Parts: sequence; structure tokens; C-alpha cells
Amino acid sequence: MLDQVRIIEVGPRDGIQSISASISTNNKVAYIDMLSEANCPEIEVTSFVSPKWVPQLADAEEVSGSIKQKDGITYTALVPNLKGLEKALASGYCSIAIFTAASETFSQKNTNCTIDESIRRYEEMIPSWEENNLRVRGYISTCWVCPYEGDIGAKAVVKVIQDLLDLGVHEISLGDTIGKATPEDVEYLLEIILDNWPPEIFTLHMHDTYDMAAENITVGLGMGIRILDASAGGVGGCPFAPGASGNVSTETAVRICKEQGFDTGIDFDKLKSAGTYIQSIINS
Ligand code: HMG
Ligand code: MG
Repeated sequence: MLDQVRIIEVGPRDGIQSISASISTNNKVAYIDMLSEANCPEIEVTSFVSPKWVPQLADAEEVSGSIKQKDGITYTALVPNLKGLEKALASGYCSIAIFTAASETFSQKNTNCTIDESIRRYEEMIPSWEENNLRVRGYISTCWVCPYEGDIGAKAVVKVIQDLLDLGVHEISLGDTIGKATPEDVEYLLEIILDNWPPEIFTLHMHDTYDMAAENITVGLGMGIRILDASAGGVGGCPFAPGASGNVSTETAVRICKEQGFDTGIDFDKLKSAGTYIQSIINS
């Protein structure tokens, strides 16, 4: 049997959040249903953040309540604070993602708080996520380069990893928010991280601004990483990271995994249809 790589489909959240033209709830639901049909093992459906900050995802409740959930697929919602967690729970989520950064300026621009304050916001959520037996992913943005501060040292990343693990998160996603990490940068940081922690708990979340994401995930796979974030059709970016373009496309991630001898369980043709669909909606 082939070794498995788990690809987390983040298109419905990361891919859509920064698109300025409003995408209808029906179109979002159709897109997510196509991703479910393609057997994506996990789909980050939406975020419960302030609608003033991210208007595109203001219909998080409606989208969450309208998708057809398929057995065996994990549906995840991104939340920035207790209010977001309560909304996610009310919408029935058993899996959430929280997010912070390795750069102080990015943390302020993205969530209006310092990194430590963001960790304290998440601390408030622990009783609720324990009581509800939630699975929790923790994103760290700007692990390599920040659009405001430039290069970020490994020390800052290592500190935030420890802070998130102390909170009890199950998995950590290392974000190359503006796609500026080179394969050498990825190898350098992963060597330091994997000296301290096992590869199973890490995800690579590579944006593809400079066409390096494919090489970067190949480096990660070679070093034992077995979870990747990706977006069907390569759509996306962060509204608070000037210059950020889409995530590595899920199509590319699936192809690389196959070439490297890994199985993803994703139906490539159906995935391609979902990617083409969302691109056509965005470009219409
Ligand atoms: P704030 O303005 O400091 O918060 O925002 P506040 O607590 O003062 O609340 C202000 C208003 O927001 C209030 O409403 C709250 O009720 C409301 P008002 O009284 O003015 O009517 N509010 C909320 N509403 C709905 N849901 C909530 C919520 N919380 C407060 N959860 C806050 C702080 C964190 C809320 C804000 O900064 C925010 O929503 N930021 C979201 C930023 C975001 O979504 N960024 C994109 C996702 S991260 C990303 O893309 C990176 C990633 O992909 C990895 C990578 O690539 O690096 C993950
Ligand atoms: Mg992202």
C-alpha cells in the first residue's frame, strides 16, 4: 500500500476570503459540495471572523448549514476568538483552526493584537474545546517572511510552536503567507523544528506567489511532512498580507504526491472540476 499524505483543502476559506467581488452563498456551497465529491479528506469550509474584517465570509453560518456533509470527511472552521468558537459550535463543527503569527506586525494587522494576546484569546477557549472534544489546528503565519517585517528568524517560529502546543493544539500549520520562502529556507526551518518535534504534527501551508510552492512541498515531503494545505484551482491569499497570492493548488499537491509515491485518496478529475468551477466564478 502507498504511504498516505493528507491534503487539507483550504480553498473555501483561504481561497475565497480575499476576493473583493461578492461570491454568492449558493456558489460557495456548490464548490464545497464538489470538493466533498472529490473525496478531499478535510475541507476548511469558512471562518467565523468579524464580517467587518472579512466581508466575503460573512455568510459562514448559511454556508455551513447548507453544504452536504459526506461521511469520512472532516469539515473545519477557522476562528479567531471565543465569539468565533461559539458560532462554529452552533454550526456543528467538531474541528476548528486557530491562527496566530511569528511576526508581531502581521499579528496586529491580521487580528488587532500581539502574538501573546492572540495566545491568551485562545487560552480562553480551552475549556470549551475540551468539553466539546474538538480537534484543533493551529496556524502560524509568516514563518519565513513577513510582508511588513521581512525575514523572520526560526527562534520566533519555535516559540509560537511551543505556545500553541502548550495550549493543546493537535496539529500546526506552518504558513508561508506571501510565498517568499525558498526550498533552502524551508529545509533550514524544518531541520530546526524536526530536531524538537515529530513531523506528524506539522502541515506546510505554502502560498505560491513566486512559483516556489511546489518545490517547497517536495522538500517537506522528503523531510517527513505528511500533511499539506492546498487550494483547488490555486485561488486565494490573505487580505492583510499585501502581495499574497493563492495557495499551492490542490491539483499540483496531488500530482507531486503521486510522483513521490504517496496516495492522497483524492479523485483528481473531480478535484479539477471543482478548481475550474471556482476559478470561473471568481473570473465571471
Ligand atoms: P477587533 O476589532 O479587535 O475585535 O477584531 P473586537 O473584539 O473589538 O470586536 C469588534 C467587532 O467585531 C465587534 O462588533 C465584535 O462583536 C465583532 P461590533 O460591536 O463592532 O458590531 N467580532 C466578531 N464578529 C463575528 N465573529 C467573530 C467576532 N469577533 C469580534 N469571531 C478580530 C479582532 C480578531 C475579531 C478581527 O481582527 C478579525 O476578525 N480578524 C480576522 C482576520 C482574518 O480572518 N484574516 C484572514 C485569515 S488568517 C490567514 O489567511 C492566514 C492563514 O491562511 C495562514 C497563512 O497563509 O499565513 C491562516
Ligand atoms: Mg493562507
